[in-house]
Formats: sequence, C-alpha cells, structure tokens
Amino acid sequence: MSLRHHEIAEAGNRILNPFTEEKLRLLGTVTAPRPGARHLDLACGKGEMLSTWARDHGTEGIGVDISRVFLEAARERAAELGVAERLHFERADAGSYEAEPGGHDLVTCLGATWIGGGLAGTLELMRRALRADGTMVVGEVFWRSEPSDEACRALEMEPDDFASLAGTNERFEAAGLELVEMVLADPDSWDRYAASQWRTVSDWLCAHPEHPDAPDMRDFLRHSRTSYLAHGRDLLGWGAFVLRPVS
Ligand SMILES: C[S@@+](CC[C@H](N)C(=O)[O-])C[C@H]1O[C@@H](n2cnc3c(N)ncnc32)[C@H](O)[C@@H]1O
Repeated sequence: MSLRHHEIAEAGNRILNPFTEEKLRLLGTVTAPRPGARHLDLACGKGEMLSTWARDHGTEGIGVDISRVFLEAARERAAELGVAERLHFERADAGSYEAEPGGHDLVTCLGATWIGGGLAGTLELMRRALRADGTMVVGEVFWRSEPSDEACRALEMEPDDFASLAGTNERFEAAGLELVEMVLADPDSWDRYAASQWRTVSDWLCAHPEHPDAPDMRDFLRHSRTSYLAHGRDLLGWGAFVLRPVS
C-alpha cells in the first residue's frame, strides 16, 4: 500500500495502530516518563502519543515521519492540546534520520519496524538515540498461533517477519534489551483499527468514484476485509513493549 493510500485509509483515525485511546493512556502510565523527559518518536504518524504524553506527563519531544499529511495533523493536535511549544515535528525517513546520539530519555516506534529493516534493525537505531538509562517502547505485530502458508500469502507476510509473543521477547533479549512492561491490543481494539478504515475508504470511494486512486482503494478495501476476516483477526497480535537496555 502506498503512502497516499495509507493517508486516505487513516483519515478518520488519530491513532494509527490497533490501540484505543484508553490503551495508549495505559501505555503512558506504565511507561511513566518523568516531566521534562526528551521523547523521540520515529514514524510518529499524527503524533497522538507525543501530544497526549506531553499533556499528561509533561514530556517534550521530536516526531519524525515521512507523511506531510500526518505531520500536519500532528502539529494541529499538539496545538489543540496546548503542547505545541514542547514538540517538534520533522519530515524525514526515520530509517536514516540522524537523531542526537544518546540524546533522548524515551525513544519510541509504534507500528513501523520496517524503518530499520525489521525489529532488530529498528531496535538498533532506536538505541543509538537513547540515553544509557533511557527507556524504549516498540509497537510490533506477533503471531498468536503458527501461521499457515495460505495465511501468510493472504496477509502478504513471511512467517519469519514476526514471532510468537515468547519469540518476540527472545528477539528483545538477543538485542540486549529487557522487557519490563507491555500493553497488548485485543480483538476488539484490532477490529476498531481495521474496520474503521473500511468505513473511511468506502466513504471516500462514494465521494470520489472516478478518482485515479479509486481502483487501488477498491482493491485495498476488498483485500483488507477478506484477509483480516479470514486470517488476521485470529492470527495477528500487536503489542507495545517497554524495554530497557541490559547494563
Ligand atoms: C502504522 S502507522 C503508525 C503511526 C504512529 N506510530 C501511530 O502508532 O499512530 C506507520 C507510520 O509510519 C510512517 N512511515 C512509513 N515509512 C516511514 C519512514 N521510512 N520514515 C518515517 N516514517 C515512515 C507512515 O507515514 C505512518 O505514519
């Protein structure tokens, strides 16, 4: 799916992952950044985590994303919540973004581990930006059960792209990180994320039936619905994992 199509499908969402507002708030509570903590969020989307955590925990920070549309929404949200002066949003490829080495108390990346070529590479680039005693939060898919070949084909994923929950923890340990907390999506919050996009895309297609992107958006809608209902809903887990470097 292209960035443009992603922007259309996500037009109705502030949180671009399978979390509800309550789960994002709970993640802030368990992560517990201190007031004034410097937060770097890679692939920040519409900046909902940066803005609400700045409001609720007194953090400051930088959000990096490649989408102009999402960044504009992020700046508007930061202004709406009265935290714009503490947040800075930058358009860049998060995989090559030159963050200040060791310059951040909290480095996060929710739902975009392709930026570093997969989980291991993304954890490495997050860690470079982290203070020695800092905290990382990564949002990642995990398999709820072993995926069949048919499911992998339908979901356009390879079995090794993700691991089980225990296997995901092994990947953290292999990266020299300790899992200290987590908040998981559940089938209801996944449904909100997936199905809300169907409505948004369906509405968009009604309003723009002859748009050059319409055939791709129709394909996206059909594929997203069938693969989610047949496979994704049972197989895909998603969690935000709170990590500390092992000293
Ligand atoms: C699934 S969304 C998650 C957004 C946000 N972290 C959230 O959870 O609400 C993925 C985000 O990654 C961004 N993105 C994709 N590739 C990127 C890249 N190479 N560098 C920076 N951002 C990227 C997209 O624009 C989108 O905002």
